[in-house]
Amino acid sequence: MELKKQIEESAQFIGEKIRFVPSVGIILGTGLGALVDEIEIDRVIPYEEIPHFPVSTVETHRGNLVLGYISGKPVVVMQGRFHYYEGYDLKQVTFPVRVMKRLGAQVLLVSNAAGGMNRNMKRGDLMVITDHINLLGDNPLRGPNDPELGPRFPDMSLTYDRELRELALQIALENKIYLHQGVYVALPGPNLETPAEYRFLITIGADAVGMSTVPEVIVARHAGMRVFGISCITDLAIDGVVEPVSFEEIVNAAKEAEPKMTLIIKELVRRMTLT
Ligand code: HPA
Repeated sequence: MELKKQIEESAQFIGEKIRFVPSVGIILGTGLGALVDEIEIDRVIPYEEIPHFPVSTVETHRGNLVLGYISGKPVVVMQGRFHYYEGYDLKQVTFPVRVMKRLGAQVLLVSNAAGGMNRNMKRGDLMVITDHINLLGDNPLRGPNDPELGPRFPDMSLTYDRELRELALQIALENKIYLHQGVYVALPGPNLETPAEYRFLITIGADAVGMSTVPEVIVARHAGMRVFGISCITDLAIDGVVEPVSFEEIVNAAKEAEPKMTLIIKELVRRMTLT
């Protein structure tokens, strides 16, 4: 079925269950799960009930679309995201972003866990994403373009909204939270990087590496949404010196950083201006 028709059917199914227009879309990655507790919940819809939604397979990512309010603003929240390494194609990975936009979301907030490669970084630190590098070897916009969804060749020069970044830095400063700013690079995974790969990623100008976010951000920009992204630094590879790390350690580091991340996103939603 045509992408637009699928989006339409998904959005209609969700829209019938709510009586408000969610203006902010949020993707809760590793390390931001606790934000759910800050939502004044109106509806929780498991992904498997939503027409055309893929179903999540990773244990740490629960698969629900949560609709409600954060700091008084109507939100649509993905509790759990879809990863390329799970076997989904990038159209599936990004489909929920299309639906969020169709429901009325003007802004997309994304979080993730990432490996830190900048020598100033420590485990558990947060990084505001200023730019990204797509090394997935694939693109969610590949194939025929529907001009009603966005332009064939979307501009990516202003991908991460400056106003939202500045607001986040201000919030962090007021709350004595240290925020890095840097470039996120996405690789397909699921393995972590070799020392040679880390050295390569540092050389090309990346500060943090992960396996998500870039596809969703590309689609959000294609759809004309404003984007804010934040990474939790869960492990380090500085100067290409890699400490062995387990998935549990990554999840634990993300959990420790969760309160900081939650505060920033919650305040960001409260203070952001919507049109
Ligand atoms: N590399 C890739 N993805 C990750 C990492 C990493 O070091 N840490 C958390 N997600």
